[in-house]
Amino acid sequence: MSDNKPSIFLSRRQFIFTGAAAIVAAWLGAWFQSRLFPPTTIAQATPVEIALADLPVGASKQVTYAGAPALVMRSQDGVLALSLVCTHLGCIVQWQPGNNQFYCPCHDGKYDAFGDVVSGPPPLPLERLTVKLAGDKIVVGESA
Ligand code: FES
Repeated sequence: MSDNKPSIFLSRRQFIFTGAAAIVAAWLGAWFQSRLFPPTTIAQATPVEIALADLPVGASKQVTYAGAPALVMRSQDGVLALSLVCTHLGCIVQWQPGNNQFYCPCHDGKYDAFGDVVSGPPPLPLERLTVKLAGDKIVVGESA
């Protein structure tokens, strides 16, 4: 006795066609997403302006640049702006004035006051953002 009921499993042809259609759909989805929502790059980010009067020598100010937090510090030697995004896996580091270092709570990463790695897994120093003085303003992130 023969059973002519169709199989509930895909034939090899159906399996290949379904797989190919899924790959094409995923590729088209990624392409449309990249066209509709292009990622913000640092080159496209809007520079941040801080009045010199708002950042006296010895002070620091947290700003948001390119969608990420950064710390702008003014000393007698000048102004330094560091991204607060850990170079290990992207957690946000915290300034610890008592230890004079940046600390990443995710994996115990430590950076010195200039953003250089002291210990832990971070492979690179914190990113330094460009800083310019323009009249009575500090401009962070403007391309050189
Ligand atoms: S994400 Fe900062 S040490 Fe891992």
